Amino acid sequence: MSSIENHLETSPYILVLGMGGTIAGLAPHPTEKPMEYEAGQVEITSLLAQIQSAVPEGVKLVSRQLANINSRNLTEALLTQLGNAVQESLADALVKGIVVTHGTDTIEETGVFLQLTCGKNAQNLGKRVILTGAMLPANAPKADGPSNLLDAIRWASTPIDNCPGGIYAVMDGRGCLAMDLAKRHGSALNAPIQGSPSSSVGLINPSWLSGVKAVQALWVEDLPIPKENEWPWVEILTSHAGARAETITQWLSSKVKGLVLAGTGMGGFHDAWRDSLVAAVKHGIALVRTTRTGAGETVPNLPEKDISGCLASGSLSAPRARIALQLALNAEKHAQAAGKSLTWQDFFARIAVLPVIR
Ligand code: SIN
Repeated sequence: MSSIENHLETSPYILVLGMGGTIAGLAPHPTEKPMEYEAGQVEITSLLAQIQSAVPEGVKLVSRQLANINSRNLTEALLTQLGNAVQESLADALVKGIVVTHGTDTIEETGVFLQLTCGKNAQNLGKRVILTGAMLPANAPKADGPSNLLDAIRWASTPIDNCPGGIYAVMDGRGCLAMDLAKRHGSALNAPIQGSPSSSVGLINPSWLSGVKAVQALWVEDLPIPKENEWPWVEILTSHAGARAETITQWLSSKVKGLVLAGTGMGGFHDAWRDSLVAAVKHGIALVRTTRTGAGETVPNLPEKDISGCLASGSLSAPRARIALQLALNAEKHAQAAGKSLTWQDFFARIAVLPVIR
């Protein structure tokens, strides 16, 4: 029998952390207008109660509501709380696996954040952390949340033999590394998994699994989770026709610590930015560049030589590159406080070289 409890446990369980999102959303007129809804309305205990009869025999669930928000309002402080909750729960021998219900709008950021701060620990401990969400609110006639949540619980509780511990995501019957999940469609039911290298949750595909192992082999060490008030300020700027130098120069008098340049094509930016970007590097602002196209890799010195100090983001999208740069800047601070001479570039380079699963 499965059960849902929130008090002190003595037998193994799957922990379900509720963050909100459409999966917990409610529409006032669900039959006529399911897409007119408010995200983050239903408590995680109620979402679990709806699927309780379908939870596999013997799987015990414990839930914790960390937040109940529309994920467009995700804060760095909340990421810190989530990361700490995941690390504490991974360390608990009674927790067999963790499911996180999340809004899909920023699940991309949370996926890469958890991979970079908790991925090695999850792998070493042989525990799976599975992110999931939904595109339709909880009371829509064809709500996708219940099946996504069930898939996530099943996968989190499946024995480790056929898939290693790590940070994954499940949507629409398919699973992928959480750091590969990205919403690339505004409304399709499989929007968050579209274009993400994924495998059927029921039948793990061997070539996908070897890609997972290749990523995990290269990810040798989790980065520190920034304290709630410690996150460095990093902005994303998009290059476009008619770009102006002022878009860059206005940051020189601010406390911004890093800029992610979402460039055109292979991650190039408008020539109007060049001199002010050189000035930004001189000011100590960290620069990374990625492509605004939504796919493909950004490689060093292509199509032309990089500004000295500006790193290419590999396959990281702009939102992922931003989280990666924040974690790299924070890791640099911690390393230097510990007397190590590692820089943000050292940490960021480790992230940008992670292979793409095809
Ligand atoms: C959200 O991200 O919280 C709303 C959208 C969604 O979950 O699909």
